[in-house]
Amino acid sequence: MFQINENYQKLPGSYLFSTIAKKVKAFTEANPDKDIIRLGIGDVTQPLAPAVIEAMHKAVDEMGKAETFHGYAPDLGYEFLRSAIVENDYKSRGCDISADEIFVSDGAKSDSANIQEIFGPDNRIAVCDPVYPVYVDSNVMSGRTGVYDAKSETWSNVIYMPCTMENGFVPEFPKETPDMIYLCLPNNPTGTTITKAQLQEWVDYANKAGAVIIYDGAYEAYISEPDVAHSIYECEGARTCAIELKSYSKNAGFTGVRLGYAVVPKDLKCKDVSLNSMWARRHGTKFNGAPYIVQRAGEATYSPEGKAQLKEQVAYYMKNAATIKTGLKNAGYTVFGGVNAPYIWLKTPDKMTSWEFFDYLLDNANVVGTPGSGFGPSGEGYFRLTAFGSYENTLAAIERIEKL
Ligand code: MLT
Repeated sequence: MFQINENYQKLPGSYLFSTIAKKVKAFTEANPDKDIIRLGIGDVTQPLAPAVIEAMHKAVDEMGKAETFHGYAPDLGYEFLRSAIVENDYKSRGCDISADEIFVSDGAKSDSANIQEIFGPDNRIAVCDPVYPVYVDSNVMSGRTGVYDAKSETWSNVIYMPCTMENGFVPEFPKETPDMIYLCLPNNPTGTTITKAQLQEWVDYANKAGAVIIYDGAYEAYISEPDVAHSIYECEGARTCAIELKSYSKNAGFTGVRLGYAVVPKDLKCKDVSLNSMWARRHGTKFNGAPYIVQRAGEATYSPEGKAQLKEQVAYYMKNAATIKTGLKNAGYTVFGGVNAPYIWLKTPDKMTSWEFFDYLLDNANVVGTPGSGFGPSGEGYFRLTAFGSYENTLAAIERIEKL
């Protein structure tokens, strides 16, 4: 009789956004006349930029002719895209990253879940609390997290770094020494971030502790303040301790297109073993490349027209963020985030739990958000709203909340 990976049995409940989708489906079925506004999952709503569409059309035509047809993509991704990444995302910021340190993928969710595969089973992970659930769940699946305590909603072998109102949502160095540190900055779910100087302290800490930082920079395009790093490689010493994951989902609306990349510097080593070589081996074995059409779409995000159009798209969502933030503040809520990230993190009113507030908002305003406790125990009593809706829906949602 075959056996299963028992670690999957340890996972509590379903994936957060699947649970929310089920709840919303049940509500819709029971209340078919209600007009629901979804500000839950951070999924974009604006169409792809014209420059991206044009590049995709051109690539589709190329695929229809024998002379310009493309089969399997190169392991690490097409040169044209990796060079554009190096020039625009790294060299322009003074970061020393080369094309053979870039691994093009189908998105940062997959990369953030898969990257743990190249690390030993006994490594201890440290995560911010609240945290994007994929980091912890993927480590649960591989048996790295120990025993789950349902009461505290924590794993025995995970180091939690609470990020709350009290510490300004800035993670503090943990008492125990971690081997792998997950940092998502600007942060999902709190919508807050740290300064470049604070990030430098993390890089110094990791280098000293012999730990690796898995740096999720999916929301980098939303940074508006000057003292915030756009890449961890802006910090001195990051090449020896950090892997950076990037996504085109949030800056270019590719949630349904799928494209991202991981940066694994050649200087990142465990004794004399290069993590770059390990990830290349893993990538070559398990991944056959993002589609040619999609990689051309990615390249178009770096053209002058593409850059200008995406800047406008980011501004559109950040106008939503400001609308939510101002509206909630006026309604008496305590709100965070929304300045360097497309998420607003609010304190639930009247000591409601996160899920109580979820139900309250759905029932009374027909607005869907995300309960903070779904991201970890320190998220209890908080709630997340996304700025990725349409402006009209965002405005309508806030008007409804203001009337409650
Ligand atoms: C979120 O809502 O946290 C994100 O959209 C999830 C994701 O990017 O996978």
